[in-house]
Amino acid sequence: MRRKLAAGNWKMNGTAADLAVVEDICKAHKGAGVDILICPPATLLSRLTDAAGDVIAAGGQDCHAKDSGAHTGDIAAGMLADAGATYVILGHSERREDHEETDQDVREKAKAALAAGLKVVICVGESLEEREAANTLDIISGQLAGSIPDAVTGETLVVAYEPIWAIGTGKIPTLDQIGEVHDFIRARLEERFGAGVGRSTRILYGGSVKPGNAAEIFAVSNVDGALVGGASLKAADFSPIISALEDS
Ligand code: PGA
Repeated sequence: MRRKLAAGNWKMNGTAADLAVVEDICKAHKGAGVDILICPPATLLSRLTDAAGDVIAAGGQDCHAKDSGAHTGDIAAGMLADAGATYVILGHSERREDHEETDQDVREKAKAALAAGLKVVICVGESLEEREAANTLDIISGQLAGSIPDAVTGETLVVAYEPIWAIGTGKIPTLDQIGEVHDFIRARLEERFGAGVGRSTRILYGGSVKPGNAAEIFAVSNVDGALVGGASLKAADFSPIISALEDS
């Protein structure tokens, strides 16, 4: 009942030349049995939407909590939608760290995104210190409670579990550790939003997903796809990850 999702987060990478990746993925995965999303820098959103047709959805990497106004350099959710985005990533650990975003900030941004008709990919995840201190589930619980607004549905909410120490490092948690957190997130969502929303919300794993580890990660319970950083920048890496998700 949950349609799987392969999401690419290009972060601060990509110019027009990189739209070739989008074209290659489109050719290779036309009619895919999973949803495919790429979140490029905002400068590429509308061109990516043109190149992606109906094969790949486009998403932003952040939005402002307000609709408009004197906020130099920021982008409103409605502007992302206007440029062709249907999703937005919110609360990525790099935003939480580089821009000191709090759970409350993420929640306000998510409300604005939902009001603009976007689906939200809300990121949660523990630091290495928190994992080593056996605080992972407490941290995740607090981030879920604080960052997700009340007005979500299984259609509009995606949660991404991204252990901070696994992002861009080549390290991933054990499959048991991934399963434990994903089962926990599912249980918390069901508790707060009821079985309907809780069971239909997609939960992605993110952090050093590569062609070589994708299949084993996708076999873990309650893993409905991946949020992929570095490996989404090349079709030769992202495409086998999408295929592994289709086969899972
Ligand atoms: P990575 O990044 O795949 O490069 O580890 C994942 C992310 O930050 O979303």
